[in-house]
Amino acid sequence: MKKFIIIGILAFNNLTIWADEGMWLPYLLAKNEKDMQSKGLKISAEDIYSVNQSSLKDAVVLFGSGCTGEIISEKGLLLTNHHCGFGKIQSHSSLEHDYLTNGFWAMNQSEELPNPGLTVTLLISMEEVTDKVLAGITSDMSVAQKNKKIEENMAIIIQNATQDTHYKAVIEPIYDGNQYLLYINEIFEDVRLVGAPPSNIGKFGGDTDNWMWPRHTGDFSIFRIYTDKNGKPAPFSKDNIPYKPKKHLTISLKGVTENDFTFVFGYPGSTQQFIPSYAVELIQNQSNPIAIEMRTQRLNVIKKYMNTDPLIRIQYAAKAANISNGWKKWIGENKGLQRLDVIAQKRALEAIFSQWINQNPQKKEKYGKILTNYRDIYAQMSPLTREKSYFMESFYAVEIIPFTNRFANEKNFQNKEAARAYINNFFKDYNPNIDKEIAKILFKTYLDSTDNDSYLPYKKEIDKIGIDKFVDNLYAKSIFLNQDKLLKIIDKGDMKDFQKLNSDPLMNFASPAFASYFSNAKRLEQYYQALDELGKLWIQALMEMQPQKTFYPDANLTLRVTYGHVKGYTPTDGVEYHYYTTIDGIMQKENPEIYDYVVTDRLKELYLKKDYGQYADKNGELRVAFIADNHTTGGNSGSPVLNADGHLVGINFDRCWEGTMSDIKFDSTQCRNISLDIRYCLFIIDKYAGAKHLIDEMSIN
Ligand code: ARG
Ligand code: GLU
Repeated sequence: MKKFIIIGILAFNNLTIWADEGMWLPYLLAKNEKDMQSKGLKISAEDIYSVNQSSLKDAVVLFGSGCTGEIISEKGLLLTNHHCGFGKIQSHSSLEHDYLTNGFWAMNQSEELPNPGLTVTLLISMEEVTDKVLAGITSDMSVAQKNKKIEENMAIIIQNATQDTHYKAVIEPIYDGNQYLLYINEIFEDVRLVGAPPSNIGKFGGDTDNWMWPRHTGDFSIFRIYTDKNGKPAPFSKDNIPYKPKKHLTISLKGVTENDFTFVFGYPGSTQQFIPSYAVELIQNQSNPIAIEMRTQRLNVIKKYMNTDPLIRIQYAAKAANISNGWKKWIGENKGLQRLDVIAQKRALEAIFSQWINQNPQKKEKYGKILTNYRDIYAQMSPLTREKSYFMESFYAVEIIPFTNRFANEKNFQNKEAARAYINNFFKDYNPNIDKEIAKILFKTYLDSTDNDSYLPYKKEIDKIGIDKFVDNLYAKSIFLNQDKLLKIIDKGDMKDFQKLNSDPLMNFASPAFASYFSNAKRLEQYYQALDELGKLWIQALMEMQPQKTFYPDANLTLRVTYGHVKGYTPTDGVEYHYYTTIDGIMQKENPEIYDYVVTDRLKELYLKKDYGQYADKNGELRVAFIADNHTTGGNSGSPVLNADGHLVGINFDRCWEGTMSDIKFDSTQCRNISLDIRYCLFIIDKYAGAKHLIDEMSIN
């Protein structure tokens, strides 16, 4: 009976792999070509990734350091998400020019806004270099010796690969270090803001709708890459010219229908498909619940204030979005992990693995300790990671605490310019009442939940006067709440003042907590290293045990292709989700009283006139978003969603809540990526913003 269940689960495992799971390496896409074509792809793997001719990959970039973008004109026009450009749009915004609220449209190239610090990375080529990286590594070397040799080897490979070019190279391990890939990149430094819709389009639905379907967010923004006169990357200069790409994407106005083939080409950040049952237990039963609980408390306070005060709404918008984004994802992830019983699935696989090695003394010799080592390491790590989660979600989450702790460091005190900027930046968006209220709640939870007293040298005092009074005193007595005084002290630069800051009540409270956190982190680091070594062996063993199975490496913020089909899904019993949404849904959600659901008069006017032009579907409807079962994750934001012809039909911007466990376990019945219908994006550019000149630049068919 037991055996039967195990075999059943294994078969199921293989089946899910066969369905649209996988983040594939573009340089090996020829291996997927047949499968992709049988599922609907009409172009070749070589059309998608080639080093010999221009291919779609020449139009896909890493935007900044955590999003994807795509080039859509021969003048370097670039699309990404609104939430990816958000920081830059915000940085150009002021009360007079509130681009966040009102949107921004450069009506000609001279109006496009430079963004110092923003880069766009274009992959030139990738190849496997495992043998070269591991050359000279012998089994008798210590881990430190091995790592040193690997680093030396990598430096040489990179040097050779980029010699006499302006390219930059990196080497990234995959399969936990069983293989190494060399990536040669071109990095552009002059990237200008061209357009962004107002937030009530680009962020419509806000945090309430985030991670959810049905969705109506016009989540896009537009940039342009510039180069020097020779077409090479260069820092911003007025003399720079628009980048002339090897390839730009063709846009299709045909839209998608249910079951259409689509693929997503982009930079997924991180997944953990190979982790053992012990790791899933830790995530599901410890780190996620702690973070969810603490963030629920924090968000309740912030939301209460945001709803009553427009200034606080602005100050805390980005912070709340950040806190809430992780919070909501982990809630969805835990539900998914529980529903699929991923822990049981992993245990079943581990049982099969044990049987497999027990049949063969050599395998037993080589792999016999993996699972017991995993078990022991995770058992030892558990209290440390628990402590870490509590620290991160309480001490670190109370804004004034990390702010204060920054000045424990002499260098941070002495660098006047940086310190001034840091202080001013902090107070611009800081509300002490919110912070204090949060501190009281989080410290209380912390005290009730952990017994690490080293974080709280004030325990006695707290027991006597209560946490609320204790926090009130702390905030009342500390100089760190006083922006003017702090700035004066920094300007003066007197080391006596530095000493004083370091005996401030808040500093006295924060420092031991940080010290304890750092010593905790140091101990954790050793376990992480051990896990790295173990992970490498574990994946090697799994590959040996399942020779028929097609593996793909975990996401690591390098370029990948994932493919699937446009599809609705059933989130809960009795409910079925349709695969697309329309502008009618925006009007249904409209609520002038609620910030996230305000609809501008201009959009309403276009809606009432049904003035959708060429962007309507064949029924005259204007579609906003659609879902498909492409396997995506954070970092895929802004990724092009392409149809069977390799034409752009959407911009990826989110996943559906019920499927967010896909970072650990993909389930094609529940996992859906959410994309903006490219026609809604063009409608906003053309009809809403009147930026027709941008449409004219694109290749539309
Ligand atoms: N959930 C999306 C992602 O993971 C969008 C996040 C930004 N939007 C928001 N409302 N917080 O990045
Ligand atoms: N919004 C995510 C991002 O910024 C994409 C959604 C996901 O996690 O799949 O990359």
